[in-house]
Amino acid sequence: MKNLRPDSLFVHSGITRDPRTGASSVPIFQASTFHQEDPLHLGEYDYSRSGNPTREALEKSVAELEGGSVGLAFASGIAAISSTLMLFAPGDHLVVCADVYGGTFRVFDKLFRRWGLEVTFADASNLETFAGAITPNTKALFVETPSNPLLKITDLRKVVEIAKTHNLLTIIDNTFMSPAFQRPLDLGIDISLHSATKFLGGHSDVVAGIAVIKDPQLGKRLRFVQNAFGAILGPQDSWLVQRGIKTLGVRMERQQKNAGILAHWLTQQPEVLKVFYPGLPTHPGHAIHMSQASGGGAVLSFELASQAQAVQLMTSVKLPLVGVSLGGIETILSYPTTMSHAAFSVQERATLGISPGLVRLSLGLEDPQDIIEDITQALRNI
Ligand SMILES: Cc1ncc(COP(=O)(O)O)c(C=O)c1O
Repeated sequence: MKNLRPDSLFVHSGITRDPRTGASSVPIFQASTFHQEDPLHLGEYDYSRSGNPTREALEKSVAELEGGSVGLAFASGIAAISSTLMLFAPGDHLVVCADVYGGTFRVFDKLFRRWGLEVTFADASNLETFAGAITPNTKALFVETPSNPLLKITDLRKVVEIAKTHNLLTIIDNTFMSPAFQRPLDLGIDISLHSATKFLGGHSDVVAGIAVIKDPQLGKRLRFVQNAFGAILGPQDSWLVQRGIKTLGVRMERQQKNAGILAHWLTQQPEVLKVFYPGLPTHPGHAIHMSQASGGGAVLSFELASQAQAVQLMTSVKLPLVGVSLGGIETILSYPTTMSHAAFSVQERATLGISPGLVRLSLGLEDPQDIIEDITQALRNI
């Protein structure tokens, strides 16, 4: 459907009704294969790795949400990232923002490097440094903004300019913002990736990944990888992500409001040394972020004085889920050192500024006052 405003699009994007029965959601086509009337001319669907109507409904939906020509759903966010890397060949080089999600670092550093893909990690919040890492065999720039877990900001318009000068592809991990707050393809980015496990799914009940591609030819190439490499999302999980997307707008709005309240409150707590949240006017990337996104998002991180204090906080809170992940309707407190960024060495984490006292908070839909009261009692314990 064309020209709908975002909140309407979340409800009505893709194929929202079953065309045969009028059912209010696309059925879960739990089938691996499809009967062919004419074995010489196969029908629209032949085998669920190549195409499944439930997955297709989700793929059409995410393509519309981000203004792409092709959307693809994968078994996880990392499967979407790995499949995208299969577009490149041994000997190609990518420049990747330094403080990417730890699993993204790991797949580049431990798998694709071994396979011959070259990679340089560079600070993308400083574009001189970032562009300085481009070499004659560079084929793409890969960024995450806001980055994980320090919420650093990269100027997407400038990344696109640099890429055009050097004839490079641009890839963004848009997980933290989701299409509710940031539509990178509108700014000229070629591929937008998501861990749909997070805000798109939204309920901490599914692991999924998404890629949205602007150019139809590039989309066709990645669709080929999706089928050939095979890291597809199953029909049940596709249905769950689509169900999550229908409430994306209201969830993001409320979770962001809660994050803003908590970020401001945390800056006033004596135990908290630093708060990282791009919605705060004091954040160094605030102006750039607000020029390319419509909000600060629902994730922030903050620093306590030591690992002992961080552990004390995490073992004292009662309301947040303490664990891996973000973007759910429940508030989630994570510890990057042993969770999202465990794939980095102690030295690498120290260089990036991921200190042992850093914790990450993803705000859910609870009343923020309850979270504040709970964190207050936990902080006073340390
Ligand atoms: C920013 C970001 N990208 C990608 C991923 C990987 O996604 P998944 O866990 O769905 O494979 C994560 C997971 O935490 C993430 O936070």
